[in-house]
Amino acid sequence: MSLALPHLLSFLFLVLLLPYFTRAQTSKNVSLGSSLTADNKDSYWAAPKGEFAFGFQKIGMEGYLLAIWFNKIPEKTIVWSANRDNLVPGGSKVELTKDGKFVLNDPTGNEIWKVDFGSRVAYAAMLDSGNFVLVNQDSSLWWESFNYLTDTILPTQTMNQSSKLVARYSERNYSKGKFQFTLQSDGNLVLETRAFPLDSSNAAYWSSETVSSGYQVVFNQSGSIYLIAKNGSMVNSITSNAGSTQDFYQRAILEYDGVLRHYVYPKSSTNSPKIRRWPMAWSSLSTFIPSNICKDIVEGTGGGACGFNSYCKLGDDQRPNCLCPDGYTFVDPDDVMKGCKPNFLQQSCDKALPETELFYFQPMLNTDWPLSDYEHFQHRTEDWCRKACLDDCFCAVAIFRNGDCWKKKFPVSNGRMDSSVGGKALIKIRKDNSTSKPSCADSKKKDHSTLILIGSALLSGSVFLNLLLFLAAFLLVFRSNNSKPLNPVMPGMNLQSFTYEELREATNGFKEELGSGAFATVYKGVLKSEDRYPVAVKKLNNMVRESDMEFTAEVRAIGRTNHRNLVQLLGFCNEGQHRLLVYEFMSNGSLASFLFGGSRPNWYQRMRIALGTARGLCYLHEECSTQTIHCDIKPQNILLDDSFTARISDFGLAKLLKTDQTRTTTGIRGTKGYVAPEWFRNIPVTIKVDVYSFGILFLELVCCRRSFEAEAHDEDQMILADWAYDCYKDRKLELLVENDEEALNEKKRMEKYVMIALWCIQEDPSLRPTMKKVVQMMEGAVEVSVPPDPSSFISSM
Ligand SMILES: *[C@@H]1O[C@H](CO)[C@@H](O)[C@H](O)[C@H]1NC(C)=O
Ligand SMILES: *[C@@H]1O[C@H](CO)[C@@H](O)[C@H](O)[C@H]1NC(C)=O
Ligand SMILES: *[C@@H]1O[C@H](CO)[C@@H](O)[C@H](O)[C@H]1NC(C)=O
Ligand SMILES: *[C@@H]1O[C@H](CO)[C@@H](O)[C@H](O)[C@H]1NC(C)=O
Ligand SMILES: *[C@@H]1O[C@H](CO)[C@@H](O)[C@H](O)[C@H]1NC(C)=O
Ligand SMILES: *[C@@H]1O[C@H](CO)[C@@H](O)[C@H](O)[C@H]1NC(C)=O
Repeated sequence: MSLALPHLLSFLFLVLLLPYFTRAQTSKNVSLGSSLTADNKDSYWAAPKGEFAFGFQKIGMEGYLLAIWFNKIPEKTIVWSANRDNLVPGGSKVELTKDGKFVLNDPTGNEIWKVDFGSRVAYAAMLDSGNFVLVNQDSSLWWESFNYLTDTILPTQTMNQSSKLVARYSERNYSKGKFQFTLQSDGNLVLETRAFPLDSSNAAYWSSETVSSGYQVVFNQSGSIYLIAKNGSMVNSITSNAGSTQDFYQRAILEYDGVLRHYVYPKSSTNSPKIRRWPMAWSSLSTFIPSNICKDIVEGTGGGACGFNSYCKLGDDQRPNCLCPDGYTFVDPDDVMKGCKPNFLQQSCDKALPETELFYFQPMLNTDWPLSDYEHFQHRTEDWCRKACLDDCFCAVAIFRNGDCWKKKFPVSNGRMDSSVGGKALIKIRKDNSTSKPSCADSKKKDHSTLILIGSALLSGSVFLNLLLFLAAFLLVFRSNNSKPLNPVMPGMNLQSFTYEELREATNGFKEELGSGAFATVYKGVLKSEDRYPVAVKKLNNMVRESDMEFTAEVRAIGRTNHRNLVQLLGFCNEGQHRLLVYEFMSNGSLASFLFGGSRPNWYQRMRIALGTARGLCYLHEECSTQTIHCDIKPQNILLDDSFTARISDFGLAKLLKTDQTRTTTGIRGTKGYVAPEWFRNIPVTIKVDVYSFGILFLELVCCRRSFEAEAHDEDQMILADWAYDCYKDRKLELLVENDEEALNEKKRMEKYVMIALWCIQEDPSLRPTMKKVVQMMEGAVEVSVPPDPSSFISSM
């Protein structure tokens, strides 16, 4: 519109015209008495152009969010919600009642959320701007969602003094999280940590420095976000022009990691097919703030960007990664911002039993935990610093930098790794840590064996501790016996047991087949419960002699695991001849059909899937109390959920291993093309077989082709692994991703990924990295060195 006018004028123009526009855009009215129910997928109210919709969106298995979302893109990205802290179950209803209320009720009639409007409102409408409004009889607005900020602002939306965006808790948990973006009543605009779970602010990590001048945050039609003074002049530019709102969907969101990001998404696929996703406009760094959250957050109380005992490092994609130092693991691998815990017992402070001999230091360059120090010494040597920390049972970490030595106490906070930090951190770790193992993510699912493990670790300790422990164990068992769920469950697990009849009904007589393999056929089903969960029912063929064992193995392995990159097992049926497993239903099918099907997924989606798969495998290998080798990693066994997140499925071949065992029994498992060479040789089979299969899969994801193509133009290109190494060696990696503009634009990253994949497919299993290392390399926390020729091992045999 008025682009030629000076921006002050055009802004005023916009403000003056807004009420008029809102009326003009209202082409679909929601009349009094209308309602929507959280059940039917397609029940929502769309804006006239269809770009936005208002209605219910299902959030995982947890419930429904009454929300507004971008409705013309596959991601259905949510921009606003009414009940972020209070998801509602299926069957809940939102209604514009005739007696003057806009109300959300759960199925039992409890009021979850409401707007009271008496009798003034004539209708409601979802506008093309993404604003949901209640309109009075005189056509003025009574209520608008734009005035109730959640974590996102949209073009034409403003933020007034004393209003704020509050980040969600995690990527998939919409409740209020740990960061907020506040335009204070004094005019200063700040990013700050919240004193979670309280609603107060804790420490600011970015500020516009506009005390007494900042008046309103504006997100204008041409995609600029800035702060204006009361007289309309701009006092601070937050993100600069990222493309017009005519061609791009835009949103700015304070994400769960504390970064405010301005995203754009091309509206038409013909416009620029290569960037059809939610990228940030990377060309300009000003499209997110702060520039390095890992360094910018320093809070006196609180853990910092990543939680206690962890450290934060910006990845290649400029996103913060939360990592644990050596000797530490995540308190909750599904919620890495909860911080890390040591894998070992702290040093004893008993004077009679000094443990100085039992600890060593793991150095980490360019790493620091500011503000956690309790002693500081100057003009010292590193050896002096090490000894001082070793002799001090309070010392968890020592920092040594240019002759300064700081002792840090537990828990350390505000951890960061960045080249600007300098010096080194010395992490104090107990030498013999073999007895204390990291346990599985979900403490609810922690089985008794973990407890016994910890118990035996303490056995050599004091009698008093043992007594305490047994008391605790007794209480735990007692409690879990008292809180028996309604359905029969297998001991120690939250699995539901189904009858064959129930599953026959759920699958409509095993009608819709989703896929089948040598041992099983998978059917789509819907559980009869009130939520009508869609599920995948896997029916194991009772013809197969091994299926009995396989069943037990699978149920036990999967029942204990819980990770967002694994397909969750919900239940099972073991009735006479019938053995079935009930899984979450994955709406986007398998990676095989996604990757090799008609429409090629984009580079970013592919790399997200690779990282998700790597994380899932890492969890199976390292973060469970029972190590699990998958043995059959391939695109058919990676499923995609509604947000295209990779979910590893099919543990049918996984063998349970005790953590100290390194070898499974013999017999080749797995699928041709993805199988590690040691299956064919007299070499122990370890978790490294999965690393190999992952490497092949990773190459397929990078190159978007199958690992073996009989019809390749060129014989050299038939076997992807060989061809990839040749291209890498000859510095011709672009051949691998021909026509893939996005990958070509990120050649450096692509090269790194190919290098990681080449490390994974080393014929010599001992050369292959662990999945943990793979994840760290992918995230940019660990450098990737030059990989050798993967097949040099055979040639030397
Ligand atoms: C919406 O309702 C208002 C007020 O009743 C009316 O003037 C307008 O024509 C309605 N619009 C549509 C598209 O029904
Ligand atoms: C900001 O203030 C203006 C004018 O007072 C008002 O119209 C608008 O609704 C307010 N916006 C928010 C988000 O509160
Ligand atoms: C989201 O996170 C909050 C805060 O930790 C937690 O209380 C809540 O249960 C989580 N909600 C879901 C649906 O997981
Ligand atoms: C508008 O207000 C700002 C901050 O209060 C001030 O710096 C600027 O000079 C004013 N501009 C005009 C045109 O009055
Ligand atoms: C939006 O703001 C930018 C930066 O101030 C300005 O250049 C542009 O003209 C504005 N667009 C509109 C439509 O007001
Ligand atoms: C203890 O942990 C460290 C770091 O994770 C590891 O390097 C070391 O090998 C472990 N020691 C034992 C005895 O397991």
